[in-house]
Amino acid sequence: MSIKTILGRSLISPADFSVDELELLFKLCSRIITEDSYLRESCRGKILASLFFEPSTRTRLSFEAAMLRLGGSCIGFAEPGSSSASKGESLADTITVVSSYSDVIVMRNPKEGAALLASQYSRVPVINAGDGGHHHPTQTLTDLVTIKQLRGGFDNLTVGFCGDLKFGRTVHSLAASLSRYPNIRMIFISPDELKAPSYITNDILKKNNIEYIETDRLEKVIGDLDVLYMTRVQRERFLNEEEYLRLKDSYILTPDKMKKAKEEMIVLHPLPRVNEIDIEVDADPRAAYFKQAEYGMYIRMALIAAIAGVAGC
Ligand code: CP
Repeated sequence: MSIKTILGRSLISPADFSVDELELLFKLCSRIITEDSYLRESCRGKILASLFFEPSTRTRLSFEAAMLRLGGSCIGFAEPGSSSASKGESLADTITVVSSYSDVIVMRNPKEGAALLASQYSRVPVINAGDGGHHHPTQTLTDLVTIKQLRGGFDNLTVGFCGDLKFGRTVHSLAASLSRYPNIRMIFISPDELKAPSYITNDILKKNNIEYIETDRLEKVIGDLDVLYMTRVQRERFLNEEEYLRLKDSYILTPDKMKKAKEEMIVLHPLPRVNEIDIEVDADPRAAYFKQAEYGMYIRMALIAAIAGVAGC
């Protein structure tokens, strides 16, 4: 198998790439991390269009930084108010036009299915940077590569997901992706109102015989975990503000709680965080969420290089 199977393809859902293709991307990413000059300037003359219809710090800026580090250029908008979408232009028309200006499109849109629709109108590959509560596949690549870099692989890990497991699309995508690796065990930690949806627990985990449990007590299970994936309670997805206010501080990871965790456990968070990780945890060597955000740029470099056909492995 060669990385060339990714050439020219869109990435809409984390399952679009096989486990073998992911392995090749992780290898490419690892080389980018260790060899400062690897693939630098390989995308000279290529243009990335970043179309963000929803706010973002990490995803948009890491994609743009990735393309600039590869020697390419970036165009785009950071909020729809500055695009002709505000005048009523359809997504299909926007994508038809932008795909004639660029070599790859990265798009975040609040509507579920928007990235798939965009890929049907685009002449160039489309990378989904988040479509509502649906998918965020490059966050999943970021999470997987961070676990791979810091834990050496995925087999035999116990991974805990904590917080808003109902609206957190990164949790759904990561749990589904991890279910493709052997001997994974998952622990879902949430209040009853924010439990992981049954299309994850029943349709994916149970069907694939993945061992998992659900609990509302972080303290009870933290000592069993190899990876703790914290999440923000997603205010923007609640229909009822009172419900959000009641649930927003359900879990706060503190140095005290970290005392019960294994020495080699890593703490991940897709960020942004609000209250769910006390800033005093940042100094703990097991806090890996800022490293994770950095790896997000390297895996996006690998992805752009593979899609654009400039990666040579
Ligand atoms: N993790 C993530 O998607 O962050 P942003 O919303 O800042 O892009």
